[in-house]
Amino acid sequence: MTTQQTTQETIVEHIRRDHRKTDREILELEMRLRGRGDEDLGPVFAPMKQELLGHMAAEEKLLYPPLEKEMREQIADARKEHDTIRRQLEELAAGGRMEESEWRRRLVMLKQEIQHHVTDEESEILPAARRLFDEDRLRDLGSRFERMEKEYT
Ligand SMILES: [Fe+2]
Ligand SMILES: [Fe+2]
Repeated sequence: MTTQQTTQETIVEHIRRDHRKTDREILELEMRLRGRGDEDLGPVFAPMKQELLGHMAAEEKLLYPPLEKEMREQIADARKEHDTIRRQLEELAAGGRMEESEWRRRLVMLKQEIQHHVTDEESEILPAARRLFDEDRLRDLGSRFERMEKEYT
């Protein structure tokens, strides 16, 4: 029986699924901000932040290094974008006493940074991974990615 082998997601599928989840979580935060104004954002923001930290750490450990030679500039840019996103997440996390409009402004900036970064990953970095790694490697990386992310949540 090789069920495990055939149902294991590839790293590319896993990363894309994470990206869509982040899209939904940001949308949820925006909807709550448009609500009555006394909505507690913590239950959505805190887990999203941990997921994003795990996702980025796993990409830096498993996806970026083997592509570095092939696409040095794109990977360097992606690492810088991760640093920006981590900084923005920390600022939002520390922003408990910030004016709501200021928090909202910073959330929009985070959303734009993430959207730009995800577009780069999905249009250049993930296609390169699919081109350069065979199916077994993509699935093995997928399972390692999943394990690494779990350490963060
Ligand atoms: Fe990503
Ligand atoms: Fe990324």
